[in-house]
Amino acid sequence: MSCRRFLVTGALPYSNGRLHIGHIAGAYLPADIYVRYLRSRGDDVRFICGSDDNGVAALKSAKEEGRPVEELTAHYNASQRRAFEGLGILFDIYGGTHQPEYAKLHEKLSQDFFLKIHAKGFFTKKSTRQLYDVQANMFLPDRFVTGICHYPDCGKPNAYGDQCESCGRNIDPLLLKEPKSVLTGTKPEPRETVHWYLRLDQLAPKLESWLRTKRDWRPSVLNFALAQIAGGLPERSMTRDLTWGVPVPLDDPDAKGKTLYVWFDAPIGYVSFTAALCAQRGEPAEQYRAWWCDPDCKIIHFIGEDNTIFHALTWPAMLLATHDSASIQGEKGEYQLPWNVVANSFLNIQFPGKEEEKISKSRGTAIWIEEYLKLFDPDPLRYYLTAIAPEGQRTAWDFDAFVERNNSELIATLGNFVNRWQKIVTDDYGRKVPQPTKTADADRAVIAEVRGLVQSVADDLEAFRFKSALGRIMDGFRACNRFIDAAAPWKSRKTDAEQCATTIYTCIQCTRTLGVLLTPFLPFAGDKIRASLGVEPDAWTWNQAADELPAGHALGPVPEILFKRLELKDFAVQN
Ligand code: MF3
Ligand code: ZN
Repeated sequence: MSCRRFLVTGALPYSNGRLHIGHIAGAYLPADIYVRYLRSRGDDVRFICGSDDNGVAALKSAKEEGRPVEELTAHYNASQRRAFEGLGILFDIYGGTHQPEYAKLHEKLSQDFFLKIHAKGFFTKKSTRQLYDVQANMFLPDRFVTGICHYPDCGKPNAYGDQCESCGRNIDPLLLKEPKSVLTGTKPEPRETVHWYLRLDQLAPKLESWLRTKRDWRPSVLNFALAQIAGGLPERSMTRDLTWGVPVPLDDPDAKGKTLYVWFDAPIGYVSFTAALCAQRGEPAEQYRAWWCDPDCKIIHFIGEDNTIFHALTWPAMLLATHDSASIQGEKGEYQLPWNVVANSFLNIQFPGKEEEKISKSRGTAIWIEEYLKLFDPDPLRYYLTAIAPEGQRTAWDFDAFVERNNSELIATLGNFVNRWQKIVTDDYGRKVPQPTKTADADRAVIAEVRGLVQSVADDLEAFRFKSALGRIMDGFRACNRFIDAAAPWKSRKTDAEQCATTIYTCIQCTRTLGVLLTPFLPFAGDKIRASLGVEPDAWTWNQAADELPAGHALGPVPEILFKRLELKDFAVQN
């Protein structure tokens, strides 16, 4: 396969809080594995993320924490960076839509976007009634108002002015039952205000034709999006009565004091951070078009399930609305629509002896990444969160299972195999790959099984089946353990040196292949295995995973301990 081009994004986290395991399992870990896999194949990739600083979420938290919103978002942007880095989730750029280094470019691109859509006639300006908090003296956008979901088949109490947390659908704040201002707790009253609405209704037919080409998307994403269209897409207001954000770039007295809706500017962050990355690399910022406006490049958004409506409908509608051509996907030079939108469900959490529950910051049920990293290594978390990835439906973090799978799978299966032959190769072969002279069916079979995984794991990853891919690799390690158990080189070294040499040779070939396949999932362990085999990073690629490490090849040092044994009490489980 020749070199392909991909632009991969992770949903921009709101910079009003720290990251917990649910965020990581939802979007960022699969994105990182995918990017590492593509790079291992030799594909050209840009991996983009950054914080979502604008809008009501940050403003609300700044009020609660009693500090300026600029300070709050800078603080959490830095905290998020540390968490990602500690987990080995390595973006090419981690921007921030209102961070000083990125804000200017972001504002410019967002305003250009707005003006282009405006010029194409896809906004209607209209005056509507909106909820106004008389005591706080302001309109209550989005999450500044809560109430009971107005969809009869839902009716759950945790609905906000923009979206229902329970059913994921958009909310009309005027229809919210028992609305309450988050600022003052009072009941808001409707008042007139002017906003610009995106003509989602007009864009719907094109969106639908485009979605109909996406048969290979996860059904949860595709069916949700198509169902929304079938139910009728209303116009959506893309401006807000708010001072924190990107100013509405219109020379119109009605635009005064208004900013763009955060869900309008946030996805443009993907574009503006790409442009900032180009600039960082010494290219013209305009070079972002090579990634965004060229059908050769595939754009993939990794998100959590609650972001589906925005990435599968609103954002593509915005992109479509900038097109001059009639084509659905966009001609060369026009913004490309996403090639795929990969959404995971939420991750729940299961405390010992309790019912499975939602991860909630306010109820104190979150495991914060920065806290986790003070106590544990990143790979066991990456392993467990992939093994239980909520790819089709919700799954739950279980403390017992985390500890148990670390000990029985990472240590007893994976680490054990990599270590079992190390002492022999050091003592008997001076850490050189021995010459195989007694290759038998068992050797050929295990090598063939493991080398066959290069294709089957790739097939899984190309289709975003991360859990299945990791399962296959672990099955490969199990096969290797069965092989070495049967061959018992610790016995044959005393009785049949040629047999022993052959067995060790086979183990080394299997370790090399499995090590390469493992590296996108567990980059820290993968790198230790690589070094212990004496392979340079540029030879540790997917395409070379099945290459022989020939007899006489000098191995590296015995690997440091790959995984530490854990006990449940290592977790100071508060609940
Ligand atoms: N901040 C949003 C969230 O955490 C995600 C924004 S994704 C983007 O749910 F596309 F808007 F950037
Ligand atoms: Zn609902």
